[in-house]
Amino acid sequence: MPTLPLPPSLVATLPGRYYTDPDLFRTEQERVFERMWFCAVRSSDLEKPGAFRTVQVGRESVLVTRSRTGALNAFLNVCRHRGARLCTEEQGQVRRTLRCPYHAWTYDLDGALIAAPDLARMPDFDRSAYGLVRVALREWLGYAWVCLADEPPSFEESVRAAAVERLGDSAAIDHYGTEGLALGKRITYDVRANWKLIVENFMECYHCATIHPELTDVLPEFAEGYAAQYYVGHGVEFGDEVQGFTVDGSAGFGTLPLVPPERDRRYYAVTVKPTVFVNLVPDHVILHRMFPLAEDRTVVECDWLYAPEVVASGADVSRSVELFHRVNVQDFEACERTQPAMASRAYRDGGVLVPTEHHIGIFHGWLREQLDADQPPFRRPA
Ligand code: FES
Ligand code: FE
Repeated sequence: MPTLPLPPSLVATLPGRYYTDPDLFRTEQERVFERMWFCAVRSSDLEKPGAFRTVQVGRESVLVTRSRTGALNAFLNVCRHRGARLCTEEQGQVRRTLRCPYHAWTYDLDGALIAAPDLARMPDFDRSAYGLVRVALREWLGYAWVCLADEPPSFEESVRAAAVERLGDSAAIDHYGTEGLALGKRITYDVRANWKLIVENFMECYHCATIHPELTDVLPEFAEGYAAQYYVGHGVEFGDEVQGFTVDGSAGFGTLPLVPPERDRRYYAVTVKPTVFVNLVPDHVILHRMFPLAEDRTVVECDWLYAPEVVASGADVSRSVELFHRVNVQDFEACERTQPAMASRAYRDGGVLVPTEHHIGIFHGWLREQLDADQPPFRRPA
């Protein structure tokens, strides 16, 4: 099939195999997810010492635990004896120690090896050299972010500043006090699509008029398709009749205490590369974390976060949750419809990006840079 040159107003997408090739996905795991800061766990999910959660980051299982001092720790979820997976559950609570289910090597909550059967018969064995392998961890927005790189990039520059800059006013994201909000609802979506289809979908609003009737009722500007959800730094105004960011436009829960009047009745959003979307509305924050598991499978955890008193009061958040839940379902169905077509010969050379989607081309350029940073194992065909 011949490739025709595109008119200058259009930009080519990535070729289809970027979404289907397991080798390419492996390279992304190594050069994107295992090198960058990755948003892993809501800190408040690990409330008490001994609470743990395991998450997939690139090719590694990472164990995040709350220590006895109250700090969060992250470790590779691998026993130092013969390499068994230490915690096999996705989440749980231990009393004081993490005990390997294979031969019972036992670690404290700071990762130190404290006991092993028959240790007395190995007087030369240096226990201190066989603690769990620690993973870098930072907390921001009430989440534990982890980084598997030997030398993690600056969190300030690569995560915080990048998000803050796109939202314009440097303190914008801080107005929402996300770290102090309480979880009102979490929905986990198992999406049969490549992670990039989900990012790209979130980066454009060309589709909003077609597939998001409820969202465009609340945010009429989105029906024009111009606003990119990639970052909505100017704040999209609610429609005139709309009282709150809810599925039927009915009132929400007022305004979070630090949100200034000029930000009331507006929606802001930002993508934090590689796998986080943050949506800011006057009375709550919606935060998506993606876990790319295979070239055609991505789990997305979406948290709806409210003022603690709203959640404590038992208020009905369902109309508020329903709006973005519908948006999520509509978006993920579109991604799942697209995924099988990525393997079609019709998409061998990719598709096109219209002018309102051009910033997706910047994302593709960034991704290619990461993949090409050093040469093998992934090589683009000539
Ligand atoms: Fe964990 Fe043996 S592999 S104790
Ligand atoms: Fe959408």
